[in-house]
Amino acid sequence: MRKTLKSISFILVLTLIMSITAFAEPGFAYKDEVLTEFSARWSLIQADDTVISVTPGSTVGELRFAWLSSAADSNPHFMVSENSDMSDAKEYDVVTSDAIKSLKSNKVTVAELEQGKTYYYSYTENGIWSESEPFTVQPSDEFTVLYVSDAQIGRSGDETLDEILIRDTCGWNYTVEKMLIAYPNAAFAISGGDQFQSPDSLVQMKAYLSPEALRSLPVANTIGNHDDDSSLYGDIFNNPNEVDELMPSEAGTGYYYTYDDVLFITINSNNSFMLDTAKILREATKAHPDTKWRVVTMHHNPYSASLSDDDFSEERLFFSSLYDLYDIDLCLSGHDHFYSRTDTMYAGEATDGEGTVYVQSSSASGSNYDPLPESTASFTVSAFDVRVPTYTAFTFTDDVIVGTTYRTDTDIVIDSFEITDNTTNTDINFFTAIFFFFKTLFSMI
Ligand SMILES: [Fe+2]
Repeated sequence: MRKTLKSISFILVLTLIMSITAFAEPGFAYKDEVLTEFSARWSLIQADDTVISVTPGSTVGELRFAWLSSAADSNPHFMVSENSDMSDAKEYDVVTSDAIKSLKSNKVTVAELEQGKTYYYSYTENGIWSESEPFTVQPSDEFTVLYVSDAQIGRSGDETLDEILIRDTCGWNYTVEKMLIAYPNAAFAISGGDQFQSPDSLVQMKAYLSPEALRSLPVANTIGNHDDDSSLYGDIFNNPNEVDELMPSEAGTGYYYTYDDVLFITINSNNSFMLDTAKILREATKAHPDTKWRVVTMHHNPYSASLSDDDFSEERLFFSSLYDLYDIDLCLSGHDHFYSRTDTMYAGEATDGEGTVYVQSSSASGSNYDPLPESTASFTVSAFDVRVPTYTAFTFTDDVIVGTTYRTDTDIVIDSFEITDNTTNTDINFFTAIFFFFKTLFSMI
């Protein structure tokens, strides 16, 4: 796929702002008074055992919900209305299954919602109807998606201590607040994984879902290495189009969905069995062969600025070869806890507009940052490792994907770029991708 990548960042072509102090430390954007005010909410957040998650549906006009309840709650309900008082509400089927720690997982899919319209939902929290919450189906002709990764609540220190969890959660709440001040009409958000530090922690799960804006803003979550080893991820997130995998994680599998002319594919990169990844890419593109854009999210980044030109990790070998084959325009990742962006990459080389742009988000909360290496690879065109949370807003139109990355302390733009897709040329993809695969494979032996 030939496209142009236009960097309009006012920072440098390659911004390498090195933190001289120790790395792998937290760094928060909020002021002390924000933390004090937030701390007063902590007991309420932890008491909210039935906090609900909202995730994108399989297409525009569908939304998905999930919450946990006690085993004694045998008859959960969910309804949607066009009115805040829930008059004339329609009730939806709740699919209940066993969840971790003898809890129940309750999931609902709401379809055929109208674009541009605001609705309200309410659900039973262990038998008691919740306050109604609004949500708006954002028009899909031009829309913005907010990208974050590694909120990783509990990462900044001893996760058994409330003071650690509170400061991480405050940082995550602060980022969500900043994003929605800048983009109040965002269609949804994507999290690139490591939502919480411990995969089976209900405390950290409730903390991750604590921003009040997340009652209305759908978030497509990704299985990170910290989410991998528990079913909690699958209990609390109701993902669309989950693909059967031969080597799934305990947390679950990859999945896909569309929003108008964009196909979003979420990969479980903890599963490096290449046939599983090939399967989800094949199923997703077969179901939606003609979308203008194809966007992958995976936790690990084949082209992180932490990797050199010659560092042929299995991520680079397995995953990026497939992205070459399937004409992926944009790959969103996290894991390394600093922001970086590549040139367009194809068959292991930076290109003049052909291939995939790899964007890696920094910490969404401030709970942890990793260091950049002293010298970065040739494919890295922007990197930022100041210990400040970042997020990236992607606006999709027919002609261009506009990416804008902000630091949350000052709201200053640290990177800005455009991806313009001109033509699709799949003829050479198969042979080039296979060549790259074997070239890389031999280099690893
Ligand atoms: Fe992480």
